[in-house]
Amino acid sequence: MNILVLGSGGREHAIVKKIAESPLCDKLFALPGNYGMKEAKLIEGSVMDKDRVLKSVRENDISFVVVTPDDPLADGMVDFLNENGIAAFGPDKKAAKIESSKAFAKNLMKKYSIPTADYEIFTNADDALSYVREKGAPIVIKADGLALGKGVTVAMTLDEAEKAIRDAMVSHKFGQSGEKIVIEEYLRGPEISVLAFTDGQTVVPMVSSMDHKRAYDGDEGPNTGGMGAVAPNPYYDEECQKECMERIFIPTIEAMRAEGSAFKGCLYFGLMKTEYGVKVIEYNSRFGDPETQAVLPLLESDLLAIMMSTTDGTLKESKIEWKDASSCVIALASSGYPEQYEKGKRISISHPISSQIYYAGVQEKNGELLTSGGRVLYVMAVAPDLKDAIEKAYEDVKAISFDGAFLRKDIGMKALEEENGKKGLR
Ligand code: AMP
Ligand code: GLY
Repeated sequence: MNILVLGSGGREHAIVKKIAESPLCDKLFALPGNYGMKEAKLIEGSVMDKDRVLKSVRENDISFVVVTPDDPLADGMVDFLNENGIAAFGPDKKAAKIESSKAFAKNLMKKYSIPTADYEIFTNADDALSYVREKGAPIVIKADGLALGKGVTVAMTLDEAEKAIRDAMVSHKFGQSGEKIVIEEYLRGPEISVLAFTDGQTVVPMVSSMDHKRAYDGDEGPNTGGMGAVAPNPYYDEECQKECMERIFIPTIEAMRAEGSAFKGCLYFGLMKTEYGVKVIEYNSRFGDPETQAVLPLLESDLLAIMMSTTDGTLKESKIEWKDASSCVIALASSGYPEQYEKGKRISISHPISSQIYYAGVQEKNGELLTSGGRVLYVMAVAPDLKDAIEKAYEDVKAISFDGAFLRKDIGMKALEEENGKKGLR
């Protein structure tokens, strides 16, 4: 069967690579895809252009479409394809609201007693400003809608909180996405990302991972889409897995069903392990980036078959097995990211490396590789243990350079400390 993947990031590169291994996959296409996806034929176009997607599906006899980015999901791409008789992986528009509206997600958690930070929702800047003045810092300000991962401010001072409110509600920094904001209690603790397959009834968590969202070492600097990840996450021990399954994963799937918004696809749980138990920081209606680049290389089973079982409601019968190994992914970014950055820098790779390179913001021009985005590419290594995976990824990333390239030097360090602690080495 012919398959189409929508998207162009490192996450989609990892998905394409895994789907290409499936015996069920004949021809593989990506729209718009990227330079690294050698396994797929690239189709020009925008992931938001429904007619273009449908035309490509018809022209290439495609029977299954994988919709990964948040925008087309929130815009109803899956509904549209289904209405046209085409099966697609991902939630419909109603279910995608779990990511596209933070207010919807917070209200869902409150209604179904799913643990999360206390919060209030505001549509008026003056009310929001009085609220933070009363509560004080640290406090967290979140734009309601999609904002490329930049709509969240963890304000350590009242000034920062007030600025974040004014940016969103007065200067409209995030457009419509910031007209409504969520202000929530500041939580402390290590973060855990869990991606889970679900067909709306059954939920199967994947191997856990740890993202590194801040731009600079030591979790300093602005929030980014994610500067690197490791999997599995050592904080996600057996007790934590049980707690998450019972108090968060199953209740969320059931809550969505009860609301008439059964979620099918990959549901991303952004979690924080606080001293009062695990709490949900955010839901995403899709695979995370860069978590996917760390998690999927550890999957032994057929990704395409699992994806298809989430759409046809047979996930319960799926066989999902994982390698007993660890992975580390390091993002190589353009200087200035996540704010302003220059494009068009020549990328050189000094020698072949055995780690996997997942491409994202890269363009080929006259036989040269040039940067074309904030997060340019990712280097991913798998090894029997976390320490070796980290060392290998850091060794191999040295082979790649471009003007202004920057990376975090501490991806996986916190995870390694925790793991060593658990083994009694601390
Ligand atoms: P989000 O996009 O909601 O995941 O937020 C981005 C990042 O901000 C998270 O990964 C956390 O590091 C941080 N964050 C979000 N909400 C909170 C909170 N309530 N308390 C502390 N940190 C938070
Ligand atoms: N890495 C976080 C995200 O994909 O939103």
